Amino acid sequence: MNQKGGVGKTTTLLNLAAVLSSANTNTASPEVPDQSSVLYVDTDKQASGADAVQDAADAAAQAEQMTRGTVLNGRNLATGESTGLPFDFLQATTPAEIRAVPAIAKKYRHTLVDTAGSFDDLSRSEAAIEIADFILVPMLAEQMSRKPTERTIETMIRPQVGDNFAIVIVNWEARNGHGELLSAVEWITERGYPLMNTTIRKWTLVSKKTICTVGRRTRPALEVLGEFQALAIETTQRGI
Ligand SMILES: Nc1ncnc2c1ncn2[C@@H]1O[C@H](COP(=O)(O)OP(=O)(O)O)[C@@H](O)[C@H]1O
Ligand SMILES: [Mg+2]
Repeated sequence: MNQKGGVGKTTTLLNLAAVLSSANTNTASPEVPDQSSVLYVDTDKQASGADAVQDAADAAAQAEQMTRGTVLNGRNLATGESTGLPFDFLQATTPAEIRAVPAIAKKYRHTLVDTAGSFDDLSRSEAAIEIADFILVPMLAEQMSRKPTERTIETMIRPQVGDNFAIVIVNWEARNGHGELLSAVEWITERGYPLMNTTIRKWTLVSKKTICTVGRRTRPALEVLGEFQALAIETTQRGI
């Protein structure tokens, strides 16, 4: 969650959903599970999550390789059709639909809820916060990302759930050096906001809308995978 659009909420969450679902199918049983253990929920009225899911599914359909354990067994819960991805998909765009998610989530090991960029409709954001066990707040290292992040945390998240959230710095341009990153970390620490240890870098591969468990295992692809796996481990340690 972050009221600023374009910070990387959808991209980060889809990749997190991908590594969480492949981790779960990569276990003891050699049989392919027919049901995914991860549900991705899009709460955006503009269906930006649904579009991103479609892009990722198109990329997966063309891919030659998958990470071990990645099975494209996801279903769209509304239609029953395959999502072409390793996780299930649900669109929930009204507060009532969002509040109905926990009952559906019981069937899954992990449920990830994506929120819209702007808080045009506060009741939807409130519903999303209400049903959350833990809130991930993606932000950029850039200065301009601070105000919207602070506003999201102070006006929406903290009054409802206290410190049961963490910022994750995403889309970080490593080539520009560590200055900007360190300054962002300092800003976050000064405010006492919880911060994930994992930083997601800016990757051309990620911007191409392919989820990280799909595609050829080139060196950058493995590095991308490693970052999202690290984030997944940290998130599960924090209770999702
Ligand atoms: N780690 C990343 N590396 C490269 N591009 C990224 C990364 N994270 C996000 N992006 C790009 O940033 C843009 C906005 O991301 P998106 O996930 O749609 O943001 P939001 O859901 O917050 O509106 C997209 O073009 C996406 O491809
Ligand atoms: Mg989005």
